[in-house]
Amino acid sequence: MILIVYAHQEPTSFNHALLETSVETLTACGHEVEVSDLYAMNFEARATRADFQQARDETRFGYAREQYYANRTNSFAPDIAAELDKVRRCDTLILQFPLWWFSMPAIMKGWVDRVLANGAAYGGSTGQFFERGMMAGRKAMVVTTTGAPAVMFNPSGMCGAMEAALWPIHNGILRFCGFDVLPPFVAHGVDIHDRETLKGILADYAGRLRTLGETEPMFFHPWSDYAGDMLLKPSVAARTIGQSARSAMQTTAHTNADAGKVESSIDAIDNTEAPFEVTEMTAYMTVIMTVTDTSWIGEYVAHVKPLMAKHGGKPFTISGMVEVLEGDTIPTQVATFAFPSMEALKAFMDDPEYKPWKEARLEGSTGSIFAYQSMG
Ligand SMILES: Cc1cc2nc3c(=O)[nH]c(=O)nc-3n(C[C@H](O)[C@H](O)[C@H](O)COP(=O)(O)O)c2cc1C
Repeated sequence: MILIVYAHQEPTSFNHALLETSVETLTACGHEVEVSDLYAMNFEARATRADFQQARDETRFGYAREQYYANRTNSFAPDIAAELDKVRRCDTLILQFPLWWFSMPAIMKGWVDRVLANGAAYGGSTGQFFERGMMAGRKAMVVTTTGAPAVMFNPSGMCGAMEAALWPIHNGILRFCGFDVLPPFVAHGVDIHDRETLKGILADYAGRLRTLGETEPMFFHPWSDYAGDMLLKPSVAARTIGQSARSAMQTTAHTNADAGKVESSIDAIDNTEAPFEVTEMTAYMTVIMTVTDTSWIGEYVAHVKPLMAKHGGKPFTISGMVEVLEGDTIPTQVATFAFPSMEALKAFMDDPEYKPWKEARLEGSTGSIFAYQSMG
């Protein structure tokens, strides 16, 4: 099934003509087509608590965390659940919209925010993003119109390369969720063309759609092109518009003195933790794990982190992407936790409260856990 998510209010617009062309052409080619006409559906663009039928955390609202929980408990609001169902059933997703401020109109951004949900389309905390995203195996394509003529979207034009304008959507949304991204169809300067030119654009679009199945996806660097620090390996030349961009921005180093100025506004945030004080008694627990089912992780972390803290334990290093240099194990996660002593570490592992979480972990992953102390 091909799902077209469409954002335009006006049935006499050029965007609507493109939509009609796609439905007719794809249906004639034997595809099943479904359209989510966002304005016609009065689709809610705002991401709020109302998006969840039950709350994971009533006290402090974290949208992505609630998404993860709603996906596990099937408790998304009905409009999100219905769209998610369409996305899961589609083999190709088309996002069609007029380019607004080099991006998508708010109603479509709202669809992306709410429907391509954490836990459902990608796994933020489980490493399921980019080629490992949950939408892997599906294709996606952007279809857009611009007011500005094509020349302005030339790489040396006033707007810069169209490919650069669409990079956040291509890489940051579609590829991030795992889609194979097809080259976009862009109708430039539609506000200034005559009827005949516009008809020609519709014919070009129909041609693109007829060959959709044979269209090569765009190139994105695979995970294997990155080193453990998440940067492209020195031996890999950047091949995308995003990674080859030369930044004019100066990176500002944040000092503790700067931090003091903003402290009052971040009082409510408890993500900052005091550094772990390493002594000769410190015991480390290293976990090398391959996650086979991600559904347990959100709840596991929420419960086990405070339990570990009860025994004085803290995350010491949590891996980003793991690069295998030797051996057959391909872990999705390598993490080390530090405890004040070996006794404390073992007390945590033997804590009866930990038992159900340990079972959940063992059900959803394979791997090994090591405990050790430093030889100094
Ligand atoms: C809020 C807003 C923002 C826009 N931003 C851009 C833009 O960044 N670049 C551009 O080329 N055109 C921009 N436009 C023009 C639209 O892209 C253009 O009018 C539209 O693609 C025409 O298609 P339609 O006739 O189907 O509406 C913008 C229009 C609006 C209303």
